[in-house]
Amino acid sequence: MSLITLRQALDAARAGGYGVGAFNVTDMTQVEAVLEAARETRSPVIVQTLSGSSAHGSDELFWDLMLRTTERYADVPTVLHLDHGPDFETCRRAIAAGFTSVMIDGSLDPVTHRPATFEANIEITRSVVDIAHPAGVSVEGELGTIGGSETGEEHKEIILADPDEAEEFVRRTDVDALAVAIGTSHGAYKFSSPPDGSVLHMDLITEIARRVPDTHLVMHGSSSLPADLRAVINANGGTLPESWGVPESEKARSTQLGIRKINQGMDSHMAFTAAVRQQLGQDGITVDPAPYTRFGRVAMQQMVAERMHVFGQAGHAADFTVNA
Ligand code: 13P
Repeated sequence: MSLITLRQALDAARAGGYGVGAFNVTDMTQVEAVLEAARETRSPVIVQTLSGSSAHGSDELFWDLMLRTTERYADVPTVLHLDHGPDFETCRRAIAAGFTSVMIDGSLDPVTHRPATFEANIEITRSVVDIAHPAGVSVEGELGTIGGSETGEEHKEIILADPDEAEEFVRRTDVDALAVAIGTSHGAYKFSSPPDGSVLHMDLITEIARRVPDTHLVMHGSSSLPADLRAVINANGGTLPESWGVPESEKARSTQLGIRKINQGMDSHMAFTAAVRQQLGQDGITVDPAPYTRFGRVAMQQMVAERMHVFGQAGHAADFTVNA
């Protein structure tokens, strides 16, 4: 068994001065793509998924398949992580399913999808830590709000994380990792021009890392939105708007400033979808989904492997003792 907790993965990343990619998956071919990329690059990895996001019929079915698949990758130190748990019950279900890490996103009110109060955020985050830690499961919380769609609802507002609040939040919740809003947003539409310091507040990372030295910082909305992949998607029937994401160089730099977990969903999914659309465009006859899905899986594996080198986790599977 190669499962490790988020705390274990990120403690080692801090000691080694690297970042670990947390790749969003929504079906089993993507789980395979991420784990194969980790094996190929000898990386520890965080495989993460949002409740209700998968192509499978239920969370529990998908989560169980994910868990079992990690047994075939005994050489890959793997964190199974729930991304943006919207409430206590979803986090409880992920822990019961065998996840080694959960995120409770208390930054948004689950009913109104408006920013929650600081006290409400602390209360729900603490309640999840209280069940997770005794079960040996790590917890990620969130401070500030990250723009884009975190919950399926459109939410454009970005409220930057506050260093004073970060210190108090960590002290009162005991989270292992903290998602800090520094100006990034989720999804396929991020910035209308290449982002500079007025958009991406990299200085906040340094300050918050200094204030909460034992808690690992997480960058959400880290996809770069590669223009070449958008061009392939749009040449094959897609209608993605022009947009800029977080440059690769800034992601690499963030790991030197104190970011340890780097969340990537869109880039992986763009790689998958570009390959599938291209294949479908070239082959009007085949109706079996397997051949074109295979192209998607391989393209996603290549993308994830490239990112593992950028984040610095490549070669660091050796930091962990797992059953090879
Ligand atoms: P992207 O939407 O930039 O891929 O970020 C994913 C993410 O932060 C998931 O929590």
